[in-house]
Amino acid sequence: MESACRICGGVVKESIDLGRQPRGNGFLLPQDIENEFFFRLAIGMCDSCTMTQLMEDVPQEIRYHDAYPYHASGSAVHRKHFEQNARYFLEHELTGPDPFIAEIGSNDGVMLATIAKAGVRHLGIEPSAEVAEMSRAKGVRVLPEFFDETTAAKILDEHGPADVVFGANCIAHIAHLASVVRGVELLLAPNGVFVFEEPYFGTVVGKTAFDMIYDEHTFYLAVRSVQAMAERYGLELFDAEPLALHGGTMRYTIGRPGMRTPAPAVAEFLAQERERGLGEHAALQGLAAAMDKVRTDLKDLLVRLRAEGAKVVGYGAPAKAATVTNYCDIGPDLIPFIIDSTPSKQGRLVAGSHIPVLAPEEFGKADPDYAVLFAWNHAEEIMANEKVFHARGGRWILYVPDVHIV
Ligand code: TYD
Ligand code: ZN
Repeated sequence: MESACRICGGVVKESIDLGRQPRGNGFLLPQDIENEFFFRLAIGMCDSCTMTQLMEDVPQEIRYHDAYPYHASGSAVHRKHFEQNARYFLEHELTGPDPFIAEIGSNDGVMLATIAKAGVRHLGIEPSAEVAEMSRAKGVRVLPEFFDETTAAKILDEHGPADVVFGANCIAHIAHLASVVRGVELLLAPNGVFVFEEPYFGTVVGKTAFDMIYDEHTFYLAVRSVQAMAERYGLELFDAEPLALHGGTMRYTIGRPGMRTPAPAVAEFLAQERERGLGEHAALQGLAAAMDKVRTDLKDLLVRLRAEGAKVVGYGAPAKAATVTNYCDIGPDLIPFIIDSTPSKQGRLVAGSHIPVLAPEEFGKADPDYAVLFAWNHAEEIMANEKVFHARGGRWILYVPDVHIV
């Protein structure tokens, strides 16, 4: 299968087919099983610009509905990170007489709340009503729309150029990313920067983190593909900084050509990516083989534990859990429920695999022998919160980068 690259129009060759999959965040009620939405989840790489991307898209109106359940404030580590981000911008970028910052996909206002408190002009662009409302309660100004060229022109008209355009865990979600970048180019002040943080393709390959692949992740960004994208739309990549967030994130800084000196990290990562072959189709073929092994090992382990009479539950119901359970064919017969702290997920079922999601209180009550850590990117925080489980002899099952027990 082939499709047209959403960024450069080149040829995207399919490399990995995860089959019929639901929406990662499609947590559903039992009565909605009949009408559940499925699509073919497959990714490929562009022959020209090396951007790795989904072969088929789920329309964005189906993904970011009013009750979009992902809350960026759901983790203390993330709250702290975004507050630090805001402080960094206040100190380094928003220092002019009347600075302005726009955030694409501002979610529940986790970053902009600090900006609002500092009294700096800002605008969150967030189409999901519920999280937009949560940010308004924090004093954050929100435009409830999808960001694109047209929205950018409107914002420019109303607020003037932006010193910073920020985006976290949303830029790679946007199928019309080309229009977003054109919009940013329109909106940026002469020395303004577009800063975005997204899961790194190098991590997906390096850690066999195939659970990062789901409907919302249209793109799997790398330094090389981001640099090519910036150039194509009249911008320049100035910096690339790795972050531990979401298991392995890269933070990119882009701006108008020649306005800043690119950090040495850009050339360093480009060289590293070349060495790892991340811009080659073979990288995806390697990932396909490695994820196949994880599927076999995880399923075998769960089947064996069930035969031994061990009690196994899941912990953390990120969107990633939908990919893993559906790809590995794991249902409530192997994992009767998954614990998650997000109230809007509790009482619902993981999409496709239909494993019920329960509140953290149920974890201690069930006293399981094993817990599969689906929110592995929050391992430190969750294991610290659930020390008692381990102290009582409970063990965590992890499947990144391979299946192991701790
Ligand atoms: P996350 O990996 O942040 O999101 P996604 O893969 O969907 O983009 O999701 C982590 C999930 O784990 C989220 O639903 C909240 C849950 N969680 C807990 O249940 N307990 C915790 O202590 C933490 C940190 C997260
Ligand atoms: Zn391309």
